Amino acid sequence: MNILVTGGAGYIGSHTCVALLAAGHSVIIADNLRNSKRETVAKIMQIAVKEVAFYEIDVTDSRAVDEIFMNYKIDGVIHFAGLKAVGESIEMPLDYYYNNIVSTLVLAKACQKFNVNKFVFSSSATVYGDNTVPFVETMDLLPTTNPYGETKSMSERILTDTAKANPSFSVSILRYFNPVGAHESGLIGEAPNGVPNNLMPYVTQVAKRKLEKLRIFGNDYPTVDGTGVRDYIHVVDLAEGHVAALGNLINGVHTYNLGTGKGTSVLELIKAFDQANNIKIPYEISDRRPGDIASCYADASKAKNELGWEARLNIYDMCRDAWRFEKNHK
Ligand code: NAD
Ligand code: UFG
Repeated sequence: MNILVTGGAGYIGSHTCVALLAAGHSVIIADNLRNSKRETVAKIMQIAVKEVAFYEIDVTDSRAVDEIFMNYKIDGVIHFAGLKAVGESIEMPLDYYYNNIVSTLVLAKACQKFNVNKFVFSSSATVYGDNTVPFVETMDLLPTTNPYGETKSMSERILTDTAKANPSFSVSILRYFNPVGAHESGLIGEAPNGVPNNLMPYVTQVAKRKLEKLRIFGNDYPTVDGTGVRDYIHVVDLAEGHVAALGNLINGVHTYNLGTGKGTSVLELIKAFDQANNIKIPYEISDRRPGDIASCYADASKAKNELGWEARLNIYDMCRDAWRFEKNHK
Protein backbone atom coordinates (compact mmCIF):
# COMPACT_ATOMS: atom_id res chain seq x y z
CA MET A 1 0.00 0.00 0.00
CA ASN A 2 1.01 3.65 -0.45
CA ILE A 3 1.01 5.07 3.06
CA LEU A 4 1.13 8.78 3.85
CA VAL A 5 3.04 9.14 7.13
CA THR A 6 2.65 12.57 8.68
CA GLY A 7 5.40 13.35 11.18
CA GLY A 8 7.43 10.53 9.60
CA ALA A 9 10.76 12.28 10.29
CA GLY A 10 10.04 12.26 14.03
CA TYR A 11 10.90 9.73 16.71
CA ILE A 12 8.04 7.21 16.43
CA GLY A 13 7.27 8.06 12.80
CA SER A 14 10.81 7.28 11.59
CA HIS A 15 10.80 3.85 13.24
CA THR A 16 7.36 3.18 11.79
CA CYS A 17 8.54 4.12 8.28
CA VAL A 18 11.31 1.52 8.62
CA ALA A 19 8.76 -1.11 9.74
CA LEU A 20 6.34 -0.19 6.91
CA LEU A 21 9.09 -0.45 4.29
CA ALA A 22 10.19 -3.82 5.70
CA ALA A 23 6.59 -5.01 5.41
CA GLY A 24 6.56 -4.06 1.71
CA HIS A 25 4.61 -0.79 1.84
CA SER A 26 5.60 2.42 0.03
CA VAL A 27 6.00 5.49 2.22
CA ILE A 28 5.32 9.17 1.58
CA ILE A 29 6.44 11.36 4.48
CA ALA A 30 4.90 14.77 5.20
CA ASP A 31 6.75 16.65 7.93
CA ASN A 32 7.51 20.33 8.51
CA LEU A 33 10.70 19.42 10.45
CA ARG A 34 9.58 21.54 13.41
CA ASN A 35 10.86 18.84 15.78
CA SER A 36 13.00 16.69 13.52
CA LYS A 37 15.78 16.77 10.95
CA ARG A 38 15.89 16.09 7.24
CA GLU A 39 18.85 13.69 7.78
CA THR A 40 16.46 11.29 9.48
CA VAL A 41 14.74 10.68 6.15
CA ALA A 42 18.08 9.62 4.64
CA LYS A 43 18.70 7.35 7.63
CA ILE A 44 15.31 5.67 7.19
CA MET A 45 16.27 4.90 3.57
CA GLN A 46 19.72 3.72 4.67
CA ILE A 47 18.26 1.24 7.18
CA ALA A 48 15.47 0.02 4.90
CA VAL A 49 17.58 0.10 1.70
CA LYS A 50 14.51 1.58 -0.01
CA GLU A 51 13.44 5.01 -1.20
CA VAL A 52 10.78 7.16 0.45
CA ALA A 53 9.12 10.31 -0.87
CA PHE A 54 9.52 13.34 1.39
CA TYR A 55 7.39 16.51 1.47
CA GLU A 56 8.46 19.33 3.78
CA ILE A 57 4.99 20.69 4.42
CA ASP A 58 2.80 21.69 7.32
CA VAL A 59 -0.14 19.31 7.49
CA THR A 60 -2.41 22.08 8.76
CA ASP A 61 -2.08 23.47 5.20
CA SER A 62 -4.93 21.80 3.34
CA ARG A 63 -3.68 22.84 -0.10
CA ALA A 64 -0.28 21.28 0.45
CA VAL A 65 -1.91 18.12 1.84
CA ASP A 66 -4.34 17.86 -1.10
CA GLU A 67 -1.43 18.12 -3.51
CA ILE A 68 0.08 14.93 -2.08
CA PHE A 69 -3.25 13.12 -2.47
CA MET A 70 -3.35 14.32 -6.07
CA ASN A 71 0.20 13.14 -6.80
CA TYR A 72 -0.15 9.67 -5.30
CA LYS A 73 -2.84 7.07 -4.97
CA ILE A 74 -2.78 7.09 -1.18
CA ASP A 75 -4.19 3.90 0.37
CA GLY A 76 -3.87 4.89 4.01
CA VAL A 77 -2.71 7.61 6.39
CA ILE A 78 -0.78 7.27 9.63
CA HIS A 79 -1.02 10.59 11.44
CA PHE A 80 1.88 11.17 13.83
CA ALA A 81 2.44 14.88 13.18
CA GLY A 82 1.81 16.82 16.35
CA LEU A 83 3.34 18.81 19.15
CA LYS A 84 3.91 16.66 22.22
CA ALA A 85 5.58 18.52 25.08
CA VAL A 86 3.21 18.62 28.04
CA GLY A 87 4.82 21.65 29.78
CA GLU A 88 5.05 23.65 26.55
CA SER A 89 1.37 22.95 25.87
CA ILE A 90 0.46 24.74 29.13
CA GLU A 91 2.53 27.78 28.05
CA MET A 92 1.34 27.78 24.41
CA PRO A 93 -2.17 26.29 24.44
CA LEU A 94 -3.32 27.93 21.21
CA ASP A 95 -0.34 26.56 19.25
CA TYR A 96 -1.08 23.09 20.58
CA TYR A 97 -4.81 23.17 19.93
CA TYR A 98 -4.30 24.68 16.47
CA ASN A 99 -1.54 22.34 15.32
CA ASN A 100 -2.87 19.09 16.74
CA ILE A 101 -6.56 19.61 16.01
CA VAL A 102 -6.36 21.37 12.63
CA SER A 103 -3.91 18.75 11.31
CA THR A 104 -6.40 16.00 12.19
CA LEU A 105 -9.28 17.91 10.58
CA VAL A 106 -7.31 18.63 7.40
CA LEU A 107 -6.20 15.00 7.00
CA ALA A 108 -9.63 13.53 7.74
CA LYS A 109 -11.16 15.92 5.18
CA ALA A 110 -8.56 15.02 2.56
CA CYS A 111 -9.35 11.33 3.16
CA GLN A 112 -13.02 12.02 2.47
CA LYS A 113 -12.27 14.12 -0.59
CA PHE A 114 -9.93 11.54 -2.14
CA ASN A 115 -11.84 8.48 -0.96
CA VAL A 116 -9.12 7.14 1.34
CA ASN A 117 -10.62 4.92 4.01
CA LYS A 118 -7.71 3.78 6.15
CA PHE A 119 -6.57 6.05 8.98
CA VAL A 120 -4.30 5.30 11.95
CA PHE A 121 -4.01 7.92 14.68
CA SER A 122 -1.32 8.47 17.35
CA SER A 123 -3.08 8.90 20.65
CA SER A 124 -1.71 8.60 24.14
CA ALA A 125 -2.34 6.82 27.40
CA THR A 126 -2.65 10.32 28.84
CA VAL A 127 -6.35 10.30 27.79
CA TYR A 128 -7.07 7.84 30.62
CA GLY A 129 -6.11 10.49 33.18
CA ASP A 130 -5.80 9.15 36.71
CA ASN A 131 -7.91 6.00 36.18
CA THR A 132 -7.23 2.76 38.03
CA VAL A 133 -4.46 0.64 36.48
CA PRO A 134 -4.31 -1.32 34.28
CA PHE A 135 -5.92 1.00 31.73
CA VAL A 136 -8.45 -0.75 29.48
CA GLU A 137 -9.81 0.70 26.22
CA THR A 138 -13.40 0.55 27.51
CA MET A 139 -12.70 2.93 30.43
CA ASP A 140 -14.29 6.36 30.46
CA LEU A 141 -11.67 8.95 29.60
CA LEU A 142 -10.82 11.38 32.39
CA PRO A 143 -9.74 14.99 31.93
CA THR A 144 -6.01 15.32 31.45
CA THR A 145 -4.11 18.05 33.24
CA ASN A 146 -2.85 19.84 30.14
CA PRO A 147 -3.80 21.10 26.65
CA TYR A 148 -1.63 18.45 24.95
CA GLY A 149 -3.68 15.64 26.50
CA GLU A 150 -6.91 17.40 25.57
CA THR A 151 -5.83 17.60 21.91
CA LYS A 152 -5.56 13.81 21.91
CA SER A 153 -9.03 13.29 23.46
CA MET A 154 -10.51 15.83 21.02
CA SER A 155 -8.84 14.27 17.98
CA GLU A 156 -10.16 10.87 19.05
CA ARG A 157 -13.63 12.38 19.22
CA ILE A 158 -13.33 14.07 15.80
CA LEU A 159 -12.28 10.80 14.16
CA THR A 160 -15.03 8.86 15.94
CA ASP A 161 -17.72 11.27 14.73
CA THR A 162 -16.27 11.25 11.21
CA ALA A 163 -16.38 7.45 11.09
CA LYS A 164 -19.97 7.44 12.41
CA ALA A 165 -21.02 9.67 9.53
CA ASN A 166 -19.00 7.71 6.93
CA PRO A 167 -19.46 3.98 7.42
CA SER A 168 -16.63 3.01 5.06
CA PHE A 169 -14.02 5.04 7.02
CA SER A 170 -11.82 2.71 9.09
CA VAL A 171 -9.91 4.30 11.95
CA SER A 172 -7.47 2.74 14.35
CA ILE A 173 -6.76 4.88 17.40
CA LEU A 174 -3.53 3.77 19.02
CA ARG A 175 -2.95 4.81 22.62
CA TYR A 176 0.77 4.67 23.24
CA PHE A 177 2.18 4.15 26.68
CA ASN A 178 5.80 5.30 27.19
CA PRO A 179 7.85 4.82 24.01
CA VAL A 180 11.61 4.54 24.62
CA GLY A 181 14.68 2.97 22.99
CA ALA A 182 15.89 3.23 19.44
CA HIS A 183 16.51 1.22 16.29
CA GLU A 184 19.27 -1.37 16.80
CA SER A 185 21.37 0.29 14.07
CA GLY A 186 21.82 3.30 16.36
CA LEU A 187 21.01 5.53 13.37
CA ILE A 188 17.60 6.78 14.47
CA GLY A 189 16.25 7.44 17.94
CA GLU A 190 14.93 10.12 20.24
CA ALA A 191 16.87 13.39 20.17
CA PRO A 192 14.92 16.01 22.13
CA ASN A 193 15.88 19.67 21.88
CA GLY A 194 17.28 21.18 25.10
CA VAL A 195 17.01 19.49 28.48
CA PRO A 196 14.80 16.40 28.14
CA ASN A 197 11.46 16.28 29.95
CA ASN A 198 11.10 12.51 29.70
CA LEU A 199 12.85 9.98 31.87
CA MET A 200 14.81 7.80 29.40
CA PRO A 201 16.45 10.61 27.39
CA TYR A 202 17.32 12.31 30.68
CA VAL A 203 18.90 9.08 31.95
CA THR A 204 20.96 8.60 28.76
CA GLN A 205 22.22 12.20 28.95
CA VAL A 206 23.26 11.66 32.58
CA ALA A 207 25.04 8.46 31.43
CA LYS A 208 26.84 10.55 28.79
CA ARG A 209 27.69 13.15 31.48
CA LYS A 210 25.87 15.86 29.58
CA LEU A 211 23.71 16.20 32.68
CA GLU A 212 24.97 15.82 36.22
CA LYS A 213 22.30 13.71 37.87
CA LEU A 214 18.72 12.58 37.58
CA ARG A 215 16.07 14.20 39.73
CA ILE A 216 13.46 11.62 40.67
CA PHE A 217 10.12 13.37 40.93
CA GLY A 218 8.77 11.96 44.18
CA ASN A 219 9.31 8.74 46.15
CA ASP A 220 6.09 8.82 48.15
CA TYR A 221 3.64 7.45 45.56
CA PRO A 222 1.61 4.34 46.42
CA THR A 223 3.83 2.15 44.20
CA VAL A 224 6.32 -0.68 44.68
CA ASP A 225 9.12 1.68 45.86
CA GLY A 226 7.35 5.06 46.00
CA THR A 227 8.54 6.26 42.57
CA GLY A 228 6.28 6.65 39.52
CA VAL A 229 5.39 3.52 37.56
CA ARG A 230 5.05 3.56 33.75
CA ASP A 231 4.62 1.05 30.94
CA TYR A 232 7.78 1.58 28.87
CA ILE A 233 7.54 0.16 25.36
CA HIS A 234 10.37 -0.25 22.87
CA VAL A 235 9.81 2.08 19.91
CA VAL A 236 10.52 -0.76 17.45
CA ASP A 237 7.69 -2.80 19.00
CA LEU A 238 5.48 0.26 18.84
CA ALA A 239 6.36 0.74 15.15
CA GLU A 240 5.36 -2.84 14.43
CA GLY A 241 2.07 -2.20 16.20
CA HIS A 242 1.27 0.34 13.46
CA VAL A 243 1.91 -2.17 10.70
CA ALA A 244 -0.40 -4.62 12.51
CA ALA A 245 -3.08 -1.94 12.97
CA LEU A 246 -2.92 -0.98 9.29
CA GLY A 247 -3.25 -4.60 8.23
CA ASN A 248 -6.29 -5.17 10.45
CA LEU A 249 -8.37 -2.08 9.82
CA ILE A 250 -12.10 -2.70 9.84
CA ASN A 251 -14.94 -0.24 9.32
CA GLY A 252 -15.60 2.10 12.20
CA VAL A 253 -13.31 3.27 14.98
CA HIS A 254 -11.27 0.77 16.95
CA THR A 255 -9.04 1.78 19.82
CA TYR A 256 -6.00 -0.16 20.99
CA ASN A 257 -3.55 0.26 23.83
CA LEU A 258 0.02 -0.19 22.65
CA GLY A 259 1.97 -1.05 25.77
CA THR A 260 3.66 -4.08 27.28
CA GLY A 261 1.18 -4.46 30.13
CA LYS A 262 4.06 -4.27 32.62
CA GLY A 263 4.80 -1.36 34.93
CA THR A 264 8.35 -0.28 35.80
CA SER A 265 9.20 2.25 38.50
CA VAL A 266 11.82 4.99 38.08
CA LEU A 267 14.19 3.19 40.46
CA GLU A 268 13.64 -0.10 38.63
CA LEU A 269 14.42 1.60 35.32
CA ILE A 270 17.74 3.02 36.48
CA LYS A 271 18.66 -0.38 37.94
CA ALA A 272 17.84 -2.03 34.59
CA PHE A 273 19.93 0.67 32.84
CA ASP A 274 22.92 -0.22 35.03
CA GLN A 275 22.43 -3.95 34.40
CA ALA A 276 22.11 -3.47 30.63
CA ASN A 277 24.94 -0.97 30.17
CA ASN A 278 27.05 -1.20 33.32
CA ILE A 279 26.51 2.49 34.07
CA LYS A 280 25.28 3.79 37.41
CA ILE A 281 22.99 6.80 37.21
CA PRO A 282 23.50 9.31 40.04
CA TYR A 283 20.19 10.64 41.33
CA GLU A 284 18.50 12.67 44.01
CA ILE A 285 14.91 12.57 45.17
CA SER A 286 13.02 15.79 44.57
CA ASP A 287 9.40 16.95 44.82
CA ARG A 288 6.62 15.39 42.77
CA ARG A 289 6.17 16.91 39.31
CA PRO A 290 2.79 18.68 39.04
CA GLY A 291 0.31 16.73 36.90
CA ASP A 292 2.09 13.36 37.29
CA ILE A 293 0.11 10.29 38.29
CA ALA A 294 1.44 7.41 40.39
CA SER A 295 0.95 4.53 37.95
CA CYS A 296 0.19 4.14 34.27
CA TYR A 297 0.26 0.77 32.54
CA ALA A 298 -1.80 -0.97 29.91
CA ASP A 299 -4.10 -3.88 29.69
CA ALA A 300 -2.53 -4.92 26.38
CA SER A 301 -4.79 -7.88 25.64
CA LYS A 302 -7.05 -6.25 23.02
CA ALA A 303 -4.17 -5.53 20.61
CA LYS A 304 -2.91 -9.07 21.10
CA ASN A 305 -6.31 -10.66 20.46
CA GLU A 306 -7.48 -8.44 17.61
CA LEU A 307 -4.27 -7.31 15.89
CA GLY A 308 -2.10 -10.32 16.69
CA TRP A 309 0.50 -7.88 18.02
CA GLU A 310 2.36 -7.87 21.31
CA ALA A 311 5.58 -6.28 22.51
CA ARG A 312 8.64 -8.56 22.23
CA LEU A 313 11.41 -6.43 23.70
CA ASN A 314 12.01 -5.95 27.42
CA ILE A 315 13.26 -3.14 29.62
CA TYR A 316 16.93 -4.23 29.20
CA ASP A 317 16.57 -4.07 25.39
CA MET A 318 15.07 -0.59 25.78
CA CYS A 319 17.93 0.62 28.03
CA ARG A 320 20.61 -0.91 25.79
CA ASP A 321 19.22 0.52 22.56
CA ALA A 322 18.49 3.96 24.05
CA TRP A 323 22.10 4.17 25.25
CA ARG A 324 23.54 2.97 21.91
CA PHE A 325 21.70 5.79 20.13
CA GLU A 326 22.76 8.42 22.68
CA LYS A 327 26.41 7.33 22.38
CA ASN A 328 26.31 7.62 18.57
CA HIS A 329 24.34 10.85 18.55
CA LYS A 330 26.33 14.07 18.38
P1 NAD B 1 8.20 13.87 17.38
O1 NAD B 1 8.13 15.29 17.77
O2 NAD B 1 9.52 13.21 17.34
O3 NAD B 1 7.51 13.66 15.94
C1 NAD B 1 6.43 14.44 15.48
C2 NAD B 1 6.79 14.93 14.09
O4 NAD B 1 5.71 15.71 13.58
C3 NAD B 1 8.03 15.83 14.06
O5 NAD B 1 8.92 15.34 13.06
C4 NAD B 1 7.49 17.23 13.71
O6 NAD B 1 8.42 17.97 12.95
C5 NAD B 1 6.24 16.87 12.94
N1 NAD B 1 5.17 17.87 12.97
C6 NAD B 1 4.59 18.46 14.04
N2 NAD B 1 3.60 19.28 13.65
C7 NAD B 1 3.55 19.21 12.29
C8 NAD B 1 2.74 19.81 11.30
N3 NAD B 1 1.77 20.67 11.62
N4 NAD B 1 2.96 19.50 10.00
C9 NAD B 1 3.93 18.62 9.65
N5 NAD B 1 4.74 18.02 10.55
C10 NAD B 1 4.55 18.32 11.85
O7 NAD B 1 7.18 13.07 18.32
P2 NAD B 1 6.95 11.51 18.52
O8 NAD B 1 7.42 11.15 19.86
O9 NAD B 1 7.47 10.77 17.35
O10 NAD B 1 5.37 11.47 18.54
C11 NAD B 1 4.59 11.16 17.41
C12 NAD B 1 3.13 11.22 17.77
O11 NAD B 1 2.88 10.30 18.83
C13 NAD B 1 2.66 12.59 18.27
O12 NAD B 1 1.36 12.83 17.78
C14 NAD B 1 2.65 12.42 19.77
O13 NAD B 1 1.72 13.28 20.38
C15 NAD B 1 2.24 10.96 19.91
N6 NAD B 1 2.65 10.35 21.19
C16 NAD B 1 3.97 10.39 21.55
C17 NAD B 1 4.35 9.84 22.78
C18 NAD B 1 5.79 9.88 23.24
O14 NAD B 1 6.03 9.71 24.43
N7 NAD B 1 6.78 10.08 22.36
C19 NAD B 1 3.40 9.26 23.63
C20 NAD B 1 2.06 9.22 23.21
C21 NAD B 1 1.71 9.78 21.98
N1 UFG C 1 10.63 11.28 35.89
C1 UFG C 1 11.58 11.60 36.83
N2 UFG C 1 12.57 12.47 36.49
C2 UFG C 1 12.67 13.01 35.25
C3 UFG C 1 11.69 12.68 34.28
C4 UFG C 1 10.68 11.83 34.64
O1 UFG C 1 11.53 11.13 37.97
O2 UFG C 1 13.60 13.80 34.98
C5 UFG C 1 9.56 10.32 36.24
C6 UFG C 1 8.16 10.90 36.15
O3 UFG C 1 7.81 11.53 37.36
C7 UFG C 1 7.33 9.66 35.84
C8 UFG C 1 8.29 8.80 35.00
O4 UFG C 1 9.60 9.28 35.29
O5 UFG C 1 7.05 8.96 37.02
C9 UFG C 1 8.04 8.91 33.50
O6 UFG C 1 8.03 10.28 33.14
P1 UFG C 1 8.07 10.76 31.60
O7 UFG C 1 8.13 12.24 31.60
O8 UFG C 1 9.13 10.02 30.87
O9 UFG C 1 6.69 10.22 31.02
P2 UFG C 1 5.17 10.54 31.45
O10 UFG C 1 4.54 9.23 31.77
O11 UFG C 1 5.09 11.61 32.44
O12 UFG C 1 4.58 11.12 30.09
C10 UFG C 1 4.78 10.47 28.83
C11 UFG C 1 4.72 11.51 27.71
C12 UFG C 1 3.32 12.06 27.59
C13 UFG C 1 2.35 10.94 27.44
C14 UFG C 1 2.46 9.96 28.58
C15 UFG C 1 1.54 8.78 28.42
O13 UFG C 1 5.62 12.56 27.96
O14 UFG C 1 3.25 12.86 26.45
O15 UFG C 1 3.81 9.48 28.65
O16 UFG C 1 1.77 8.14 27.22
F1 UFG C 1 1.10 11.46 27.42
